[in-house]
This record gives sequence, structure tokens and C-alpha cells, in this order.
Amino acid sequence: MTQVFINGARDDPNVREFESLDPSIKELILAATEARKQAYCPYSNFAVGAALRTSDGSIYSGCNIENGAYATCICAERTAAVKAISEGKRDFVACAVVAQQDNGFTTPCGVCRQFLSEFVNGKDIPLYAAKPTNLPLRVLCTSVLQLLPNGFSFANGK
Ligand code: THU
Repeated sequence: MTQVFINGARDDPNVREFESLDPSIKELILAATEARKQAYCPYSNFAVGAALRTSDGSIYSGCNIENGAYATCICAERTAAVKAISEGKRDFVACAVVAQQDNGFTTPCGVCRQFLSEFVNGKDIPLYAAKPTNLPLRVLCTSVLQLLPNGFSFANGK
């Protein structure tokens, strides 16, 4: 049985130094860090930024946007995704998520995992989770399929 690490414990081999990552990955993480600054989160006070790279090389970023009617809150990942999709970019190739949780990395919620999996074109795509204020910056390098094993796909239902 593969060992499961919860949100990138210290000895998790999938946690890497930011400086060791490819420039395109660093750029994606920095875009998510920047988008996080726009978070509207007066209820949770938990700001999240996300960025998606699409297959043409573009980056779409987003933040979480909360609402007094809690059920209408949208996560940063889905904000980024709907921005890309509504601009005609449906083929995601990488994702970054940035938030400050002291006890681990912030990875997408279940709804966002399912939402993202719809737009990865049958592939697995890397997902980088980072903290904005953890220097030297360390990054959990995982993937949408690792986060959503055996997820539902409509194609599988037909
Ligand atoms: N949130 C995100 O935007 N992305 C995540 O990956 C985890 C949670 C948001 C939803 C809500 O606005 C706040 O964080 C607290 O759950």
C-alpha cells in the first residue's frame, strides 16, 4: 500500500523548493499568489489564489469570492477555471493554488477537484500547492488525478 502523506508533511518527497522548479511553474505560482490579493473572504478570512495554465500557454488566475449566503461562495480554483473556459480556453495543463495554512498545504476541495478534472482532456495535470509567506518557499507538487483517484467522468457512465 502506498504511503499517504497528508497535505505535504515535512518528509513528503513531493514537497520541493520553489527555487528548484521550472520557470513556467514559478510563474504559475506567482500568478496565484498575486490573484490571492483580490480574495473576497470576509466570512472565513481565508484568502486563496489559484492559477491555471492552458494548452496555448496562457495563464488564468482567480481568487475565492465569498457571499453572505454561504452556499454561493466560489473557490479560487473555480474562479480561475470559469475565467479560462468563458474565454474559450478549456484545456488545462497545470494548476497552482496558494493559501496560508500553518498545518499544511491548501489543496483544492472536492468540488474543485471534480470541476478541474472535467477540463484536463483525459490527461493528468500537475497541481502545485504553495504558501505565500513560507520562506524559503516550499511547494507541494501533486496532480489532479492524485487528488481525485477514480473520480467520475461522464464518458465512463455511457
Ligand atoms: N477555498 C478555496 O478558494 N480554495 C481551496 O482550495 C480551499 C478553500 C476557499 C473557500 C472559502 O472561501 C474559504 O477558502 C474557506 O473555506
